[in-house]
Amino acid sequence: MLTMNVKQSLIELPSDLQQQSIPNHVAVIMDGNGRWAKRRGFPRIVGHQKGVDALKNLLRCCDDWGIQSLTAYAFSTENWGRPTNEVEFLMTLFERVLRRELAQMMAEDVQIRFVGDLTGLPESLQKEIAYSMEKTSNNKGIKFNIATNYGGRQEILHACRVIANQVKQGKIDINDIDDRLFENNLYTHGLTSPDLLIRTSGEMRLSNFLLWQMAYGEIYVTDTFWPDFNRQEFHQALLSYQKRDRRFGKLNQENGK
Ligand code: IPE
Ligand code: IPE
Ligand code: MG
Repeated sequence: MLTMNVKQSLIELPSDLQQQSIPNHVAVIMDGNGRWAKRRGFPRIVGHQKGVDALKNLLRCCDDWGIQSLTAYAFSTENWGRPTNEVEFLMTLFERVLRRELAQMMAEDVQIRFVGDLTGLPESLQKEIAYSMEKTSNNKGIKFNIATNYGGRQEILHACRVIANQVKQGKIDINDIDDRLFENNLYTHGLTSPDLLIRTSGEMRLSNFLLWQMAYGEIYVTDTFWPDFNRQEFHQALLSYQKRDRRFGKLNQENGK
């Protein structure tokens, strides 16, 4: 599949984007579904429904353009505080979409993974999630990670508890705790940190998303509401990303001389 990816990206990548600096891992805060719907006089849930299409299109585009991982924020630990009917609609939507799209994901060699506290989700959704992760686990194409019941602070606290327990049991020494060990205990273990985080609907905050992982990730914010986010918008985000000077606290090559 890798050769096919390279071939496709060579054909389809817009000519003003540089293949060698395409981000490895893109994360997205899919925000503005409710406002998108409200503007059109629809109930908020219509925005969530439309948002699914935008995500499917972005996944396909990432795959076409040679991006290796896409992580999408679907439901935060704070989103439980929304009205019950909206929360219930979202849980049912996740389950329905997962069931409906699995065959296509298999056909496209997508590896699905859910990140977050999955034990807090409805049981029927947990089952669907476990099945889709199992079924796609050997796929070699793009890694598609869906953050559901995800909170960055909770993720960090969870890792702390696991590590503290290992210290208590004498399995590791306190001096063994470093970046790597910590990362291995996050929900995102095994994934590289996002190179680019896109947030739609104009809000300039992380809203508890990937707090540890975003230490040096580039952030791009667009005013567009999530259901309207498309290939052209993504192209703009990548153009902006490719102009950034990622210094990681050091000096850039020219100044460093
Ligand atoms: C993002 O859109 C989707 C979820 C949080 C599930 P919103 O529902 O937050 O839409 P706005 O921000 O209210 O417009
Ligand atoms: C972040 O959006 C969560 C998701 C997109 C799933 P929110 O709409 O929940 O964030 P705030 O409340 O504007 O910070
Ligand atoms: Mg929102």
